[in-house]
Amino acid sequence: MPAQIELDSPRLSLRRWRAEDHAAFAELNDDPEVMRHFPACLSRAESEQQIERIEADFARHGFGFWALERKDSGAFIGFTGLRPVAFDAGFCPAVEIAWRLARSHWHQGFASEAARAALACGFTRLGLEQIVSFTAVDNLASQQVMRAIGMQRDPAEDFEHPALPAGHRLRPHVLYRLRRSDWEAGR
Ligand SMILES: CC(C)(COP(=O)(O)OP(=O)(O)OC[C@H]1O[C@@H](n2cnc3c(N)ncnc32)[C@H](O)[C@@H]1OP(=O)(O)O)[C@@H](O)C(=O)NCCC(=O)NCCS
Repeated sequence: MPAQIELDSPRLSLRRWRAEDHAAFAELNDDPEVMRHFPACLSRAESEQQIERIEADFARHGFGFWALERKDSGAFIGFTGLRPVAFDAGFCPAVEIAWRLARSHWHQGFASEAARAALACGFTRLGLEQIVSFTAVDNLASQQVMRAIGMQRDPAEDFEHPALPAGHRLRPHVLYRLRRSDWEAGR
């Protein structure tokens, strides 16, 4: 198994998942506002399956979607992290950065703070040349996080998410990317 990476930011620990995170993760996955840009809320069983997939990423790569813990309260607030894109598209193979936070912790800069730590890990420890991120066209909050951390969109790379059926409201996606050279220049 590769060395397991955990990270740190000023207000957050980006750590491996613990048993006590599961209930809080299921709760945020059952919040229609959090899941507005996903096909549906997740059942408890589906939430557990997502954690299993995340754990499989860590076992295989040493990195994945880290559990976010607030240093001030110890609260689990969601995840942010990196993983190889799990479907085929014009921009693959690629490593993506992604995030999902419980609603009570939004608008406090946590997603972008965690994402900056994850980007630094990707470009330094993992030696990635670039990192991508994508979301449904209407998910403006997520796109604002992408821009806040220095990612840029080329509309020519917008794509239809292959896991969703033709005509599905969430199928049109935007693609953002950040190259290591641009990340280094922006530091
Ligand atoms: C997207 C999400 C992670 C943002 O988390 P957050 O911690 O509130 O984001 P931050 O506080 O770090 O904000 C980063 C930037 O995004 C902006 N932003 C956050 N929420 C926003 C919203 N709803 N609309 C517009 N801009 C928003 C912030 O103002 C900030 O911009 P700035 O740097 O120019 O000031 C959170 O809303 C979420 O978990 N959404 C549901 C899950 C989801 O959609 N995940 C992405 C799927 S691809």
